[in-house]
Amino acid sequence: MRLLSARLIVSLILGIALVSLLFSYYQVVVEKRGLRSDLERRAEVLGESLVGNVEGSWDVGSDRQLQRLVQRFANREHLVGVAIYDQLGNTVAMTPELEKTLTATPHVVAQAIAKNHVASSFMRLGGDPVHVLALPLHQKGEVVGGLAVVHDVSYIRAQSLRVWRVGFFRVLTQGFFVVFITLLIVRWSIAGPIARAAHWMRALRTGKISSHQEMPDLDLFRPLAREVVTMAESLSQARSAAENEARLREAAESMWTAERLSVQVRTRLQESRLFVVSNREPYLHQRAGKALEVVVPPSGLVTALEPVLRACDGTWIAHGSGDADMEAVDAQDRLRVPPDDPRYTLRRVWLSKEEEEGYYYGFANEGLWPLCHIAHTRPIFRAADWQHYQEVNRKFTQAVLEEIEDTPKPVVLVQDYHFALLPRLVKEKRPDARVAIFWHIPWPNPEAFGICPWQRYLVEGLLGADLIGFHIQSHCNNFLRTVDRVVESRVDWEHFAVQRQDHRTIVRPFPISVDLTDDQSAQDKHDGSSYIERGTLIRNLGVEATFLGVGVDRVDYTKGILERFLAIERFLEKNPTYQGKFTFVQIGAPSRTHIKRYHDLLAEVEAEAERINWHFQAAKWKPIVFLKRQHSHKEIAPYYRAADLCLVTSLHDGMNLVAKEFLAARRDERGVLILSQFTGAATELRDALLVNPYDIDQTAEAIRVALEMEPEEKQLRMQRMRRVIKEHNIYRWAGNLITELCEVRLDAAQDAPEKLRASVSGA
Ligand code: G6P
Repeated sequence: MRLLSARLIVSLILGIALVSLLFSYYQVVVEKRGLRSDLERRAEVLGESLVGNVEGSWDVGSDRQLQRLVQRFANREHLVGVAIYDQLGNTVAMTPELEKTLTATPHVVAQAIAKNHVASSFMRLGGDPVHVLALPLHQKGEVVGGLAVVHDVSYIRAQSLRVWRVGFFRVLTQGFFVVFITLLIVRWSIAGPIARAAHWMRALRTGKISSHQEMPDLDLFRPLAREVVTMAESLSQARSAAENEARLREAAESMWTAERLSVQVRTRLQESRLFVVSNREPYLHQRAGKALEVVVPPSGLVTALEPVLRACDGTWIAHGSGDADMEAVDAQDRLRVPPDDPRYTLRRVWLSKEEEEGYYYGFANEGLWPLCHIAHTRPIFRAADWQHYQEVNRKFTQAVLEEIEDTPKPVVLVQDYHFALLPRLVKEKRPDARVAIFWHIPWPNPEAFGICPWQRYLVEGLLGADLIGFHIQSHCNNFLRTVDRVVESRVDWEHFAVQRQDHRTIVRPFPISVDLTDDQSAQDKHDGSSYIERGTLIRNLGVEATFLGVGVDRVDYTKGILERFLAIERFLEKNPTYQGKFTFVQIGAPSRTHIKRYHDLLAEVEAEAERINWHFQAAKWKPIVFLKRQHSHKEIAPYYRAADLCLVTSLHDGMNLVAKEFLAARRDERGVLILSQFTGAATELRDALLVNPYDIDQTAEAIRVALEMEPEEKQLRMQRMRRVIKEHNIYRWAGNLITELCEVRLDAAQDAPEKLRASVSGA
């Protein structure tokens, strides 16, 4: 740093000195030129007036008169003297001062007499610099002699020296300030920030702080700060991954991590790649005034798949539903995401308003969604919606075929009830592709499913896949029973597979999960820096409460939000001591609100919260706080961490990831999960307080039990459940699914694509 400062200072001083010298030199030249021409002008004026006088006295006067005449001019400023010469250059008269030094006739005088015009010259006289102006003298038009006016010019030199001296002192002063200011800049803006950054990085390297910790102020180096933070994060992630691996090896555990998944997937896929298809995209671009905003939609599917895609760098094909989505893609409708840390490719598929209306709102969400969820909302099947559903499945198939075109044996993971027809459509064109579909919602019993007029086409479409995944075994069983009823095939109950013509589809449960990691920095990253203490959180809600409950859902009739509110009301009625003390925060993201049932439900939920709040009205407390908007994972995390209990009361749910996210957030091993027995999660999380959400009294009692549970009991239950989701995390889900799919034998289907095609009927 000292060397840098010295170099910087020397270069600056040299630069300034050079510029200053050039400037002084220029000033001297200009000054000199000015003084000289001034002198010449003065000499000329004097000479001309003298010439008139001398010529007037030439004939009349004697030499003595001329001598007197020149002496009259002897005392002018800087004038050394005046001399008069005859035609031959002999001195006629001369001021005494000049006599001492001017011994010979100056050549300019001879020149002026000879050429009959004024001449001047700068020369030395007795060692001193002088200026001689020579003028011819006339009588009757003839040159009769010459006049010399001699000025001392040493003052011009003195003036130049003064300018040089001022220049020198200027360089000296500027140099001093430059050194001073440079040292200040180096210390404040370079040395200081570098020292702080070095200190910070050392602390990171030695694990004394986490990368999440506040970055020191790097001043000028701010643009580097982000890179340094990313590097620091990668470093600490790599370190904790290595530590984790070592720990696992030590404990001989087979824990799934992002690293293990990416290694596993790379090994399995070899030169192939992973392609995921879903309706909902992981990132939406939206216009917010002039700014472009990136939104992560509220979807369990997105929450689960995002870490998988990050780990494998695959391609995710989804509906581009953001109003600014088109602005963010390239010519192939692709972009790299996450936008601030690109890890994989998102390919957007565009749908017309009618397509979205018929396929998404209509057939998928008014037909299949209520059909598969036994929540007592009647499915609506319209032939026009079914047409759109088929068209959109074909449109997505086209996009998939484009994406997999150059990939041999691609692995395609289709997601959910939006794409029941897609597996068959893809396999028809690319029998070498390994295709799986994961059905994120329940599969009802064959009687319930049987009311769908197009059930056969849906089942046939699904059976195009090599692998069909559900969350739990009972959904697999329901599906196989449906297959048995609906299409001609052989259901192999021993191996949970369906043999149809030459194609075999295996059906397996893969319980989806979240990314629970014990790594502090990774956890911090997930939760963001906005840890708000429980007290502050409650105060920010505008209530005073001792106990806090939380629920997080899309506002959907399958989630049992109204039943949950009724249970809270019953709990407070039965346990009045909790009035004024227990507040339940319902985070509700409005969802699918174009559908009347959803639109009405949103209003009903709001009205119900208001009714119950009115019922228990108190000055600074209310039992239900309904936060009606989508919250990011980062915003939700503090609620999970602060809550005494989390209520998941779905009337029917494939898995429910909110339950698992709540557990993942509770590193403190406190808090109680109250979980509907009708969720897929209930099969794994046996230490939750399981409830039937239709039984309002039972749920109300579970709330009391949760609030009064001994801390040790809470901790024990939480520990056990966290262990379950730590072991059965999202990486295991993806790892198992992809491994199973890669092990499927494709030979039969590959040899017989024509047969497979021939069996397509209607869809
Ligand atoms: C469920 C479905 C997902 C869907 C999510 C959100 O979890 O299984 O496929 O993405 O709900 O619903 P939305 O219609 O907004 O995508």
